[in-house]
Amino acid sequence: MFKKREYLKNIEEILISKRQINKKIQEAAKWIDQTYENHDEEIVLVGLLKGCIPFVGQLVTQIERNVVLDFMVVSSFKGKEKAQGKPEIVTHINTDIKDKHVLLVEDIVDSGYTIKYVKDELMKQKPKSIKIITLLDKPTGRKVDLDVDYSCFIIPHKFIVGFGLDYKEKCRNYEFIGVLKKEVIEKGDL
Ligand code: IMP
Ligand code: MG
Repeated sequence: MFKKREYLKNIEEILISKRQINKKIQEAAKWIDQTYENHDEEIVLVGLLKGCIPFVGQLVTQIERNVVLDFMVVSSFKGKEKAQGKPEIVTHINTDIKDKHVLLVEDIVDSGYTIKYVKDELMKQKPKSIKIITLLDKPTGRKVDLDVDYSCFIIPHKFIVGFGLDYKEKCRNYEFIGVLKKEVIEKGDL
């Protein structure tokens, strides 16, 4: 048996608590209902896997109007060996978005390369509109000209984990957003 929240030992600092996340997601759902209030066309939420899962999962249950949910898998190529800023769509949506309103749901926007690329690709399918909502936004990291329509939290330029965000595929299950201890990253000891 695991001790309660065993992963707390990896954390230097909790940046955003579970309670703060819950509150912001409620507000974000209200923003969605208000934004599309006078639109009769279908709303398609497109989550970018895997980071979006806790965010979109919680968000979608609090939206009061009808929405459709779909997902994409996009690789961001953050590694040193690969050229930065060349994302690739690994799995595409199945939904026909022509003349519909698309809301892209991201875990975090940093340079903006990933989400801008996805937006430009989806534009080719002639949706009525595309907006972007993100749980976290690091505006100081931005490398492209991009409008994020709704950011739940603006955060400083730090590497963070939890609530969907990973370090080497771990930490996605943390109920808060936090900063890993340096020694944990150095040792890769998670
Ligand atoms: P961008 O293309 O630079 O905007 O990067 C976006 C993607 O990089 C996100 O969808 C995340 O998967 C990843 N990412 C950026 N910053 C962080 C972070 O601080 N922690 C974990 N993943 C991050
Ligand atoms: Mg992501």
